[in-house]
Amino acid sequence: MVKIGVVGGSGIYDIPGFTITEYKKMTTPFGDPSDTYRLGELSGVKVIFLPRHGSPHHIPPHQINYRANIWGFKELGVERIISVNAVGGISSEMNPGTIVIPDQIIDMTKGRKSTFYDSDDVVHIDFTEPYCNEMRKSIFKAGKKSGIALMKSGTFVCVDGPRLETKAEIAFFKSIGADVVGMTVMPEASLAREGELCFACVAVVTNYAAGITEKRLTTTEVVEMMRRVTGQVSDLLIETFHLIPDRRVCPCKDALREARI
Ligand code: HPA
Repeated sequence: MVKIGVVGGSGIYDIPGFTITEYKKMTTPFGDPSDTYRLGELSGVKVIFLPRHGSPHHIPPHQINYRANIWGFKELGVERIISVNAVGGISSEMNPGTIVIPDQIIDMTKGRKSTFYDSDDVVHIDFTEPYCNEMRKSIFKAGKKSGIALMKSGTFVCVDGPRLETKAEIAFFKSIGADVVGMTVMPEASLAREGELCFACVAVVTNYAAGITEKRLTTTEVVEMMRRVTGQVSDLLIETFHLIPDRRVCPCKDALREARI
């Protein structure tokens, strides 16, 4: 059974070395996912890839059907998801080109459809640790093995977009402990938890966040930087796939236990 899913963000529309064997169109009770799921093999490991913004890139962050995307992965038998995200760097170590494996989230999104449980079934999943720490550990090992420098923690503040932030917003996010800012990790991460899937984020700092430098932000620099590090991200993913243990021992797989009212 295929068990690993990858969600690609801006600038990551496929993974170098990934051989696609099937394009699978899915429909879900929550509507249609961003695109067909790409089923295939990467360095001998079965992987399912989904471009979050569709291909070509046409779905803005606030209009992504996150519920359908995660549901589709679950239906396809995926147990673990790695989400690749472009982010702006807020704290001092977060320079463009840095790859961060965040450990925390601040959710500033509003009005996104963020749960599978919005009718009779009342569910409150534990989200103290929003990412799967077992997967994060495998990514750290993969970084070490493949010589790819990683920032091993960081708080990801997620905003709706699609506009970029104001200087005051970034100063505020910095004051509350955010290290990077992006538009797509939520509600992906919490939906994965509701689906009892392991979820980890590989965040690529593509630019300094608004007001961190004097430079005006452009989408071109985001896509350019993402292109530049795609090879590294792909090497990191390949190594990670080989290091992820077969059996899950983390709490993610039992997220719904004692979560229902
Ligand atoms: N802000 C929000 N989202 C982003 C940024 C940013 O500066 N860069 C890449 N995604």
